[in-house]
Amino acid sequence: MVIGESVGQTDIAIIGAGPGGYTAAIRLAELGKKVTLIDKETVGGVCLNHGCIPTKALIRAAEEYHTLPKLARLGIQCEKPSFDFAKVQGWRRQVVKTLDSGIRALLKKHNITLLKASAEFEESTKLTLQGENLEINALEFHKCIIASGSRERLIPGIEVDGKQIITSWHAIELEKLPTSVLVIGGGYIGIEISQMLSKVGVKIIIVEALPSILSLLDGDIAAAVRKNLESMGTSIYCNAKVKSVEKKESSVITTVNLDGKQQVFETEKVLVAIGRVPDVKELRLENTKVKTTDKGFIQTAEGFQTHDQHIYAIGDIIGGVMLAHKAAAEAKIVAEVIVGKRSTFDALIPYAIFSDPEIAGVGMTERECKEKDIPYKITTFSYGGLGKAHIVGDRQGYFKVIHDGNNLLGFTIVGERASDMIGVAVVAMEMGATLEDLSLMVFPHPTLIEGFGELADTALGFPIHGL
Ligand code: NAI
Repeated sequence: MVIGESVGQTDIAIIGAGPGGYTAAIRLAELGKKVTLIDKETVGGVCLNHGCIPTKALIRAAEEYHTLPKLARLGIQCEKPSFDFAKVQGWRRQVVKTLDSGIRALLKKHNITLLKASAEFEESTKLTLQGENLEINALEFHKCIIASGSRERLIPGIEVDGKQIITSWHAIELEKLPTSVLVIGGGYIGIEISQMLSKVGVKIIIVEALPSILSLLDGDIAAAVRKNLESMGTSIYCNAKVKSVEKKESSVITTVNLDGKQQVFETEKVLVAIGRVPDVKELRLENTKVKTTDKGFIQTAEGFQTHDQHIYAIGDIIGGVMLAHKAAAEAKIVAEVIVGKRSTFDALIPYAIFSDPEIAGVGMTERECKEKDIPYKITTFSYGGLGKAHIVGDRQGYFKVIHDGNNLLGFTIVGERASDMIGVAVVAMEMGATLEDLSLMVFPHPTLIEGFGELADTALGFPIHGL
């Protein structure tokens, strides 16, 4: 023991209190383990504090505001609505605070020790801790789970200052709406934030390096989002490579290489949203046997075991899709692996993009089937055939199923409440349902979920409300 060292002991140490870390902590406590959860910031991780929850709160506020003039079609007049961004931000903070308290209460209920500290490995079974007012500065454990997440990927040579050149982290914290923003990256984050800001009057320019925004999705889906963005005045440039970003006193000049020609844009701010990367540097993994991939993700085997028998890893830090619900699902499995219960994880991971139109999917896309040379058929069913869609005011939305004639390969929903409804597709696919099963199921009327039955009927060649 080093002089001045105060060493604590625990069964399980978990680094990172995001959806992966705190879920693992609760499940391990339920399984009878003494758990210490360590986070240098607070509970909830990027998801609760800087990602999923605050962005969805702001998106909701912007959507409500944007929808007000459309209520005129129902006979509801909203004269001169205003968007008080400071108040919206206050509400957003309150949502986060309430959920933060909820997680803390759950941790307390399960007697989980929560430490606000930075952790680094001193050896395979010991962490060094740094933080204020800590009673211990080292922690010995039997097993450790690394659930330390990811951080924004930055562009070499473009320095994020948090004021004029920002990431999504800063965008969420804005106190005043900018007049214009150039968004680098047309992925999930770039699109969600662009649409949120454009709905409240901010001029948006999106610069995407690939030939399409939301490039992992099928072309028809990305096209629906693009059309909507452009209808709100957003300019989108694909195959566009940013050459330089130069700060002026009250604006930023971005030079973009567009099909061999240079184009210059001047905006109040630039938002960098080009993906997320793992960040293992400060963990001092060199003091353990844990190995990482070329891209810096922690390598794990089945059961989320790293190359070090004492250490497991879950969530963004191991790569794959970087989604909160994937981390939380892995957390429940790793907890059971640690107590010797089970070891495999093969669940489908759905996704939801809170764009306009909203998009959600599970299973294979058309693009993936083509890439993997898997024979497939596509059937779509338009929201327009559903009574409820006419009430909620979305007749453009659609359901899309990829199938082989009877077996389900994948679903995408584009439109109102897609993120909630995709749950039906998840259950159907996980339970091995077929198109015939879906066709025989009875869905309540009038709802948008009826679309699943109609989709199956259409795919089987007996459409009722489909054309
Ligand atoms: P992303 O990987 O989805 O998209 C980044 C985009 O930036 C890509 O289209 C890429 O081609 C483009 N790009 C990369 N370098 C560029 C450059 N130099 N110039 C122009 N474009 C460039 O990453 P994003 O949007 O930052 O999101 C990160 C992760 O966060 C996602 O992988 C997702 O898993 C997660 N996320 C999930 C959400 C949800 O579930 N609704 C919402 C937001 C983020």
